[in-house]
Amino acid sequence: MATGTQESSIIIPHVHVPDNPVWPSLSADEEKKLKEKIKKLLKEQNGVLVAHYYTSGALQDLAEETGGCVADSLEMARFGTEHPADTLVVAGVRFMGETSKILNNEKRVLMPDLKATCSLDVGCPIDTFSEFCDHHPDHTVVVYANTSAEVKARSDWVVTSGIALPIIRHLADRGEKVLWAPDKHLGRYVQQLTGVEMLFWPGSCVVHEEFRSTALERLRRLHPEAAVLVHPESPESVVSQADVVGSTTALIEAVKNLQNEEFIVATDAGIFNKMRKVAPQKTLLEAPTVGEGATCQSCAHCPWMGMNSLQNLAEVLEKGTNEIMVSPELAAKAQIPINRMLEFARRMKKG
Ligand code: 13P
Ligand code: SF4
Repeated sequence: MATGTQESSIIIPHVHVPDNPVWPSLSADEEKKLKEKIKKLLKEQNGVLVAHYYTSGALQDLAEETGGCVADSLEMARFGTEHPADTLVVAGVRFMGETSKILNNEKRVLMPDLKATCSLDVGCPIDTFSEFCDHHPDHTVVVYANTSAEVKARSDWVVTSGIALPIIRHLADRGEKVLWAPDKHLGRYVQQLTGVEMLFWPGSCVVHEEFRSTALERLRRLHPEAAVLVHPESPESVVSQADVVGSTTALIEAVKNLQNEEFIVATDAGIFNKMRKVAPQKTLLEAPTVGEGATCQSCAHCPWMGMNSLQNLAEVLEKGTNEIMVSPELAAKAQIPINRMLEFARRMKKG
């Protein structure tokens, strides 16, 4: 079986991880008023709210109440292309807003905070990445959606966690060698399952890297009936303990469909909002981040996802600030590998 090799010469830039933002708490009445204001602004501007499962419960609920969507990164990308709104308001992190702009260059794409980035995106600068690709022209370049528009434009395929496995399997079946960036854990996971020959970029997610395997083993002993759900950005020692490994959507589906009464969840805690809705009677436990050696920088909550709130969402709609810009030339290049993924997803759905 072919193997995966991590490129050791690549030096990842230091990623500054901010503290989790603390938003002033709102009374029920203040929250209601703010939501009403946002609903009105969305209507006036023919806008729609597209939120990720890691944003606050209030934002997720508002997206659903206003005919928008709460989804994983694959569905967020697809939703924007199919919805007739003129303005897409993306509550998530920068690569999600950029993907929307790449696919809908004629639409206005706003984000509550343009500083909301992702450690995978920051850790994969275009110049070094491009050099890496230039050194391996015989490899098919596959990048995770958590990357900049420039990195996407340099790739052959873009994938999200929801579709990485079938796409890599498809490439493996064609005998292609894969250059993978930037998440080494997701790369290793799909490499092991497909046997594809793969070169990895050594990036990682600061949130999922905090899950601790020894503490998880202890928690499993205390809850032997619980199913363990793990996002594949987590380290191998955590993934190897999982009953289900998958995208945020796949983990929510698992809570809904499995017979277990208890679940240990190794991904951002924002996902609990949706999980509680789809299975209110089930018990959800956070996978531990504070075992031996943990730094608990982020405590299972992405600090960049936390930069989205009702307050700054209302502000950007009111002032028209924080628009995501991607030049039409760059968008045209980056669209190709993203559309390849969306087309693959469409074909898979049809069977
Ligand atoms: P999903 O595509 O599974 O929602 O993951 C996006 C992400 O950034 C996870 O950390
Ligand atoms: Fe990026 Fe990790 Fe945050 Fe997801 S959870 S947006 S991968 S830093």
